[in-house]
Amino acid sequence: MPRNVDPITREGASERIAFLRGELARHEHLYYVEDAPEVPDDAYDALMRELAEIEKRFPELRTPDSPTMRVGGDVRAEFKRVVHAVPMQSLDNVVDLAGVEAFLTRLNTFASSPQAVVCEPKIDGLAINLTYEDGRFVQGSTRGDGSVGEDVTENLRTLSSIPLLLNAPFPSGRLEVRGEVCIAREDFARLNEQREKNGEPFFANPRNAAAGSLRQLDPAITASRPLRAYLYHIVNALSHGIARQTELLDRLALWGFPTQKREEACASFAQVSDYIERWSAERFHYHIGTDGVVVKLDDLKLREELGSTLKAPRWAVAFKFPPEEKRTRVLGIEITVGRTGVLTPTATLEPVELSGTTVRRAVLHNQAEIDRKDVRVGDFVWVRKAGEIIPEIVRVDVEARTADLPHYHMPEDCPVCGSRVPRIEGEAMLRCINSSCPAVIKEGLFYFASRVGMDISGLGRRTVDALVDAGRVHDFADLYTLTVDELAGFDRMGDKSAHNLVAAIDASRARPLEALLVAIGIRMVGKSVARALAGHFGSIEKIRSASEEELALVPGIGQVVAASVRAYFDDPHNMQLLNRLAAQGIRMDSPDVFISGASLPWVDKKIVFTGELERMSRADAQELARALGAQTPDAVSAKTTWLVAGDGAGSKLEKARRLGVQILDEPAFWELLESAQKGK
Ligand code: IVH
Repeated sequence: MPRNVDPITREGASERIAFLRGELARHEHLYYVEDAPEVPDDAYDALMRELAEIEKRFPELRTPDSPTMRVGGDVRAEFKRVVHAVPMQSLDNVVDLAGVEAFLTRLNTFASSPQAVVCEPKIDGLAINLTYEDGRFVQGSTRGDGSVGEDVTENLRTLSSIPLLLNAPFPSGRLEVRGEVCIAREDFARLNEQREKNGEPFFANPRNAAAGSLRQLDPAITASRPLRAYLYHIVNALSHGIARQTELLDRLALWGFPTQKREEACASFAQVSDYIERWSAERFHYHIGTDGVVVKLDDLKLREELGSTLKAPRWAVAFKFPPEEKRTRVLGIEITVGRTGVLTPTATLEPVELSGTTVRRAVLHNQAEIDRKDVRVGDFVWVRKAGEIIPEIVRVDVEARTADLPHYHMPEDCPVCGSRVPRIEGEAMLRCINSSCPAVIKEGLFYFASRVGMDISGLGRRTVDALVDAGRVHDFADLYTLTVDELAGFDRMGDKSAHNLVAAIDASRARPLEALLVAIGIRMVGKSVARALAGHFGSIEKIRSASEEELALVPGIGQVVAASVRAYFDDPHNMQLLNRLAAQGIRMDSPDVFISGASLPWVDKKIVFTGELERMSRADAQELARALGAQTPDAVSAKTTWLVAGDGAGSKLEKARRLGVQILDEPAFWELLESAQKGK
């Protein structure tokens, strides 16, 4: 391979770029589509780094189809609308084999001859439409209402399995392909685990996670999610010389698209019903979620003749799988105590296999839910997975209740610390209000250490349990007094881990104010409220001394949140804890964002950022500007005050020049920012 073509010259760079892009595309295809990588990850990373470096030196050679663009471009304010020239229809559903047979009969009657059909797993994902011009990916959209979708091109570009350039010989001109974006079951489990660690809310199921991830205004977030795409349809396939669905799928694969490769051509109802029966079981072992089987006419010419109704094509149906339900027994009801002290009842079950995993527990939420379903310990119950993921009890098999089982009542005392749990007016749940309850302390510490909080890696559940159980840690402040020696003495913690943990705890002292505000667990204060508070007040002291009315005036903070913040600071225990944290050197203010009162020097400024900044990410710089009152839209317009141009600025810079918008380089921006911060 032509290694080390000296990329000093533009020509050399261009040649090397072409080579690297070809290689990267090939490796991406092998890895993401074929599942058969040829080189180790670091060899791929090295090629990518080299390409990025050359493109950085020659920004004019960077094009949207470069694999370096998969990391996610600019953040947008909203999605553009895309009109689907050929509507993206849904499918008619059938729920039993008789429905499938009726469909086949209709096809055969229409054609006056027995027709072959193709069966494919129906992917439980999000429909997408991809447009290619001369083999180059130019636009990707969601289905929307079927006629008009959203332009998610930049987000789809970040999916490594979607080819940016098709393998030759691809059709010249326009090609539209359709398929589904989804998240594999294993990736989904890992994603939720990660979210738990970061203190972020769970996704209910892979479909929601895929939809939420694809419809992000910031493509970098999409890039960070394990999205996959599978294609199964070509719009106007006949005009590309394709006559059958089987051929269509082969062609997609040849061009480099990921396809499921689980299709089967069937010549009779017996074959179709055999496929459906096999998949009714197989689906629980399939790597992605499927909610049925799609049965489609193989002959594309005949499809045209059949046409479609307003809602769905006449040439296909979806056989929908019934949600799997299994019968098992309730062995007990356990109560867990969460970070905020809420007592949650969970049924422990006789283990049962359901949709590919062993189910041992089902959350019951609260007393009202237990009463509604009348679940009692010892009952036989039917369970299923809500959204194919979270086990739930559907109903009790009351007839099988032989003995006179007692009703279940939530405990009156916290099962962990034994203190009385008062029933709180207007709340469906019970809450342990003992702030020294070990369960509350442990959950609180785990959350304190999470990524959105103080980001102390290495402080997992096991370590937290050990430290609290040993009576060594009672609250957040105690963490900062831990030494390497004593940590190394704890079960399963080696010298190196002890060192790393102490270093991580130490580094967390400098976490920004907004992270501290999240970490201490004020009720209703998540990331965005914390950011608003930190940006507005600039220090714990100023937040503490603000009245409820003043708090409620902060944009993004309502009356209820203001009351919760006020209540937190009115509690002397919390103030003591904050004082101890301050004494341990934890940062209690944001020197970068120091705003007194309501004076916002940049309220009249509209600042647009473009390119890469050296000092911090664009998002952080925008936040600093917003804290001074500025607006930070994504697009340049005649109303833009300044365009801050970092490294590699492109079309926004040109537009700003054309409109006569004042352009600032990075040092000029920091200078203005610092003087605005001081002036307030
Ligand atoms: S064929 C124009 N095949 O299910 C193509 N659809 O509930 C007609 N879907 O709108 C659909 N897997 O988004 C087809 N293998 C598959 C599919 C599939 C999932 C989606 C598709 C459709 C929806 C209907």
